[in-house]
Amino acid sequence: MTSPLRIGLFGTGRIGFVHAANAATLPGTVLHRICDPALERARETAQQYGVPHVTADPEEMLSAGDLDAVVVASPTPTHVGLIEECIDRGLPVLCEKPIHLDIRRVDELREKARAATTPVAIGFNRRFDPSIADLHRTVRAGGVGRLEQLTIVSRDPEPPGPEYIAASGGIFRDMTIHDFDIARLFVPEIVEVTARAAQSFSPEIAAAGDFDTATTVLRGAGGEVVTIVNSRHCAYGYDQRLEAFGDAGAARLENLLPLTTRSFGAGGVEGTTPYYSSFVDRYAEAYRAELAEFAEGVRSGTVRNPGFEDGRAALLLADAAQESAERGVAVAVEPSA
Ligand SMILES: NC(=O)c1ccc[n+]([C@@H]2O[C@H](COP(=O)([O-])OP(=O)(O)OC[C@H]3O[C@@H](n4cnc5c(N)ncnc54)[C@H](O)[C@@H]3O)[C@@H](O)[C@H]2O)c1
Repeated sequence: MTSPLRIGLFGTGRIGFVHAANAATLPGTVLHRICDPALERARETAQQYGVPHVTADPEEMLSAGDLDAVVVASPTPTHVGLIEECIDRGLPVLCEKPIHLDIRRVDELREKARAATTPVAIGFNRRFDPSIADLHRTVRAGGVGRLEQLTIVSRDPEPPGPEYIAASGGIFRDMTIHDFDIARLFVPEIVEVTARAAQSFSPEIAAAGDFDTATTVLRGAGGEVVTIVNSRHCAYGYDQRLEAFGDAGAARLENLLPLTTRSFGAGGVEGTTPYYSSFVDRYAEAYRAELAEFAEGVRSGTVRNPGFEDGRAALLLADAAQESAERGVAVAVEPSA
């Protein structure tokens, strides 16, 4: 049996904790080191999962010399620097999205990431959701014929707090970026972005100069039309739906239920459980599969997770959507984006 992949984790916040749990429990990986300036939280996570080394100092973790791979789940402004450190040290890295909020900082690292001999993976977890992956396989196998329309509905249950919004880079770079990645999975060549957005319900989000509601239409090089519907709130939970429509039919992914119990009576049929209420629960399997795929890729030498160029392309689409929403125009993008 090969020895488990020793993983070092940056950040033990909302998403870092998910990665910690997976790295510590997947067969074939072990969570060996944690780095987080919030030492108390890091120590709690380490204690929960039996992680031997905890530090607040990134240099201490990276120079330890006993890691096989790194997961970056620290705040977005730290990503570019940590990816670069990992490349320089020959450490495979899985970094959360987005790579950065400023495309210029992404482009400064682009050549180095291209030339890297070790993998740079970006955390677009939704590609690993079993239902989304299945829908994609169906479309690739010709199940809907020639793809003409892709419709993505993605609504959060509740808006994040004002501090988060202020640092988020706006709805397109923070939230829609996941949908842009899924759009590119189905329609890799996108040529035009049109977005309409509104400050519809949240005075806090409006005060931050951001939108709480957006609809984005992407045009593919083959004439495909992708529609992405986003809201920062949703009364019935985390709304995650997807439909691919083509000349031979359609494939559709509805919201998943944590429990599938239903009640039947004289008054009708009722669902008794609400939808998932957070990305952590709805995409739990996806995060696990994402890390499993990355670890397997590192071991075999072929990482198939979305990479640096996917992260850059999704950010370019987000920038185009922001421009379109602000100026009220359609924005052309390079088909390779
Ligand atoms: N893929 C997804 O579904 C998903 C979901 C949520 C967040 N994210 C991304 O993950 C990143 C983290 O988001 P979050 O919501 O977990 O944030 P968070 O604020 O909950 O947690 C961030 C953690 O990183 C720590 N930290 C700060 N600087 C650090 C450094 N230099 N080294 C190590 N740790 C450091 C903080 O102390 C904190 O514990 C963001 O880039 C975000 O966009 C992705």
